Amino acid sequence: MNAREVRKTFLSFFEEHGHTRVPSSSVLPHGDKTLLFTNAGMNQFKDYFTGREKPRFPRATTAQKCIRAGGKHNDLDNVGYTTRHLTFFEMLGNFSFGDYFKEDAIAFAWELVTKRFGISPSRLWITVFRDDGEAREIWRKVAGVGAERIVGLGEKDNFWSMGDTGPCGPCSEILVDRGDAYGPADMDNGERFFEIWNLVFMQFDQKADGSRSPLPRPSIDTGMGLERMAMVLQGVDSVFETDLFRKLIHRVEQITGTRYDSGAAGVPHRVISDHIRSLTFAFADGAEPSNEGRGYVLRRILRRA
Ligand code: ALA
Repeated sequence: MNAREVRKTFLSFFEEHGHTRVPSSSVLPHGDKTLLFTNAGMNQFKDYFTGREKPRFPRATTAQKCIRAGGKHNDLDNVGYTTRHLTFFEMLGNFSFGDYFKEDAIAFAWELVTKRFGISPSRLWITVFRDDGEAREIWRKVAGVGAERIVGLGEKDNFWSMGDTGPCGPCSEILVDRGDAYGPADMDNGERFFEIWNLVFMQFDQKADGSRSPLPRPSIDTGMGLERMAMVLQGVDSVFETDLFRKLIHRVEQITGTRYDSGAAGVPHRVISDHIRSLTFAFADGAEPSNEGRGYVLRRILRRA
């Protein structure tokens, strides 16, 4: 399945289930000083979650342009060295603004992944926040996932926050086991247990003083990495080998006269092809390299490339 079909399958599935398809917002957040770049699909809906604004629809679905190269979610230093990290990526998401909660979110995710995308349940693992017995139970009952494949983890892995402040909550991830070729069966091994989708059960607003107040209504925020899902469905070893990157990598080969290597020698090709996507999208949305803040991050990305 090519990436365009992955995106379309995701958005159409949620449209069929009553979600309004909303365009991606800019990679430069408007009116939000807590972020340098848009880092997740939920950013444009922040005020719907906190109750500061009345939602125009109860459910939404998006393919959101994201940059994770500064602030709380920063993957810059990993890019090139793993098969899965990118500074620019598209996040496919479904959102409920006080409408459905855990049970429907889990049922939707399981149906889409195993039926529409056709990934065998025998390859899938689930993580939940360790105190979230409810999510664990729903995965067992609604999706039929065996208890041995549901792993409870702590805040670092299974409690998602947008930034130092803002909406947050316990989360549950769907992972694909890529098998022994990717190292030991250890949940910390992200190359083997490859995260494809994060379901956040939005319940709190994180305050600057460290306290958390409950959101007006429990809500849902999810994020699936388009590039990662394309990788899994195309049966290739790295996001850089998907149809989204093939042309870019090839162009880097042509310009540098150096063949791409999927091992260590290919780091430069991967760095250049990721970074040029971030820079292109950031510039297209109106940013410029400079000496401070967002512009300085772009300058660093440019220099690294
Ligand atoms: N907002 C959640 C994430 O970025 C879905 O992982």
